[in-house]
Amino acid sequence: MLSIKVMVSGGAGYIGSHTVLALLEAGHEVVVLDNLCNASRESLRRVERLTERSLTFVEGDIRDRALLDQLFREHVVSAVIHFAGLKAVGESMEQPLAYYENNVAGTLTLCQAMQAAGVSRLVFSSSATVYGAEAPVPYREETPRGQPSSPYGASKAMVEQLLEDLCYSDSTWSVTLLRYFNPIGAHESGLMGEDPLGLPNNLMPFIAQVAAGRRQRLSIFGDDYPTRDGTCERDYLHVMDLAEGHVKALEHLPSSGVSCYNLGTGRAISVLEMVERFVAVNNVPVPYSFAPRRGGDLPAFWADPGKAHQELEWQARRNLDDMLQDTWRWQKQNPRGYE
Ligand code: NAD
Ligand code: UD1
Repeated sequence: MLSIKVMVSGGAGYIGSHTVLALLEAGHEVVVLDNLCNASRESLRRVERLTERSLTFVEGDIRDRALLDQLFREHVVSAVIHFAGLKAVGESMEQPLAYYENNVAGTLTLCQAMQAAGVSRLVFSSSATVYGAEAPVPYREETPRGQPSSPYGASKAMVEQLLEDLCYSDSTWSVTLLRYFNPIGAHESGLMGEDPLGLPNNLMPFIAQVAAGRRQRLSIFGDDYPTRDGTCERDYLHVMDLAEGHVKALEHLPSSGVSCYNLGTGRAISVLEMVERFVAVNNVPVPYSFAPRRGGDLPAFWADPGKAHQELEWQARRNLDDMLQDTWRWQKQNPRGYE
């Protein structure tokens, strides 16, 4: 595979930094654009240390058109992987305008700058949330988008639509939408991982912080769902598998038009199973109690990852124990994240 020079927006963040590492390991060249609103510059220093390769970092915002024009003038890239955006579902209900501005208007500005610079190949971070509450499981790409349950989810669905319209209007564009299920875990070195600011919203970082003694106990939201053990089931996948999925998507961008892939394992694990397995493989207690359901949660969903396997030659390779052990190694070695 020839080396591709790629601009990675949001490349200092959790999934972005692991993807930058996988890109460098695959021999590609990377320019990261990140405003550091939810990330630390240190994540990229660790990428350089682990890969023994260097990357270019530009601190700035995808909504800053002048900066984007300058970036594309100074760095001749042939594709963009676009992670930059806000991602906290609860916060999006309180601040919908911030979410539409960052995620939708930000993507619009990015695409306009790409168009002006003649860069028309894009991989976009979408989410399983675009399937909505009514979609049959396992989720398949041919199922039409549903009604997302939050402004965050709606922003992802709008960007998918925006990119589809762009591709229909102009056959020089080539876009891959990646719909992630639940990424967890950390690089196996223990040097890189997820570093949420403040109280974690998501299950895995919360479990890790309880295990580390930073939080007293985990609340399990709901024990009366129509599932195997009454708790919600999700398709958790290792962040390094997800990162490698981006490398495949970049290398397999269609010659024209839009492609869409689920990135998941195809297996659903319950919240209770996650906690019990974390305790067993890491030999550390995680106190928990049951709490009322969290608004907007669906009982159970998981991916049919067959299309990504067939067309991208991608499959999740790491198992649940890898995800849980790698999370704990990162948490233990970096109790305060990248600080
Ligand atoms: P993250 O917050 O760690 O990464 C996002 C990065 O984008 C951060 O480094 C942040 O500083 C940067 N950023 C935000 N707004 C920006 C802007 N306007 N200009 C420049 N940089 C900006 O989140 P993540 O978990 O790595 O998620 C990456 C992408 O994947 C997001 O688009 C997210 O919505 C999507 N996604 C995440 C998950 C998940 O479970 N983590 C699931 C589905 C989709
Ligand atoms: C959530 C978002 C989704 C987003 C994803 C990644 C919702 C409805 N969905 O997915 O749009 O793409 O995060 O950012 O918010 N849980 C607990 N206790 C906790 C935390 C979580 O029991 O302290 C449970 C939740 O109720 C859920 C499961 O763990 O059943 C997974 O939760 P989480 O990690 O937040 O992911 P999702 O809700 O699947």
